[in-house]
Amino acid sequence: MQIAVTTASGKLGSAIVNRLKLEIGAKNVIGIARSPGKAKSLGVEIRKGDYNSKEDFVKALKGVDAVLLVSGMDHPDKRIQQHRNVIEAAKENGVKKIVYTSIVGAEEGNAFSPIVVSNRQTEEDIKKSGMQWTIGRNGIYIEPDLEYIATYKKEGGIINCAANGKCGYTSRNELAFAYFKLLTEDGLLGGIYNLFGDPVTQQQLAEAINKAYNLTLSFKSVSVEEYVKERQAALGDFLGTVIGGIYEGIRTGKYDNSSDYLKVTQRAHKSLEEMINDYAKG
Ligand SMILES: NC(=O)c1ccc[n+]([C@@H]2O[C@H](COP(=O)([O-])OP(=O)(O)OC[C@H]3O[C@@H](n4cnc5c(N)ncnc54)[C@H](OP(=O)(O)O)[C@@H]3O)[C@@H](O)[C@H]2O)c1
Repeated sequence: MQIAVTTASGKLGSAIVNRLKLEIGAKNVIGIARSPGKAKSLGVEIRKGDYNSKEDFVKALKGVDAVLLVSGMDHPDKRIQQHRNVIEAAKENGVKKIVYTSIVGAEEGNAFSPIVVSNRQTEEDIKKSGMQWTIGRNGIYIEPDLEYIATYKKEGGIINCAANGKCGYTSRNELAFAYFKLLTEDGLLGGIYNLFGDPVTQQQLAEAINKAYNLTLSFKSVSVEEYVKERQAALGDFLGTVIGGIYEGIRTGKYDNSSDYLKVTQRAHKSLEEMINDYAKG
């Protein structure tokens, strides 16, 4: 059984490669990376794969039984075709199963929606591909918030436009365990699964960070307009708009959903406190 993982040089791709190595052995895992040199230290066979090149994937997917397609980072109008390059190359190579890392979120109503819509299109493309498939819809990663603690301290707290909305967070390691199951458990085939822990408010997030790091951060909610403007100034138009849209989605309840993590993995998703403690331990 050869399982290939795209974006093996990225944080999610590498976490999934590492989990698969533990579970099925390094010789059964192939990492595919746009920049193969960056993925060498994973200790598995690495092949080249840029989402813009179907040719790359026609070569990279030779002899592969199952492929994990990690959603790309490009603008939504480019992503659909990039993902199709992988799907088509997989079909041409007789790959039996494709698993896709999609995203939770609203298909309309906020600035993140175009990205959600592009993910939904890839879900449809995968369902129609004729291969066996499973799809995970990832919750919001907790790690970026924890990488941001120094900034939160400088700014005196967590400031965004989420108000009292709840968000189901996850971590890349929790996702890696779920994707190992989605790649290897036939009972999960043909399903779309929400992957995150119990939804929490930004106030609860601030309290959990304070407890783990012995801090006194508070949470302050601002208007959507104010937050989007501030994020665009800090991160540029594309990323600032995307981040603003995610927090607007939290504010309006779009990330307060029920999770299928237990069904997929047969164990509870880690709590917010556990994920923060894991991150703090490094
Ligand atoms: N759920 C969430 O909260 C959340 C947050 C952010 C992103 N995401 C989604 O989750 C995905 C994985 O996240 P991550 O944390 O692993 O991101 P990451 O660490 O930034 O990794 C991104 C990966 O995408 C690769 N990549 C970029 N353009 C590519 C292309 N044209 N062809 C092939 N590979 C390409 C990068 O390759 P190089 O090493 O060559 O640059 C890198 O390996 C993202 O791509 C995004 O769709 C989800």
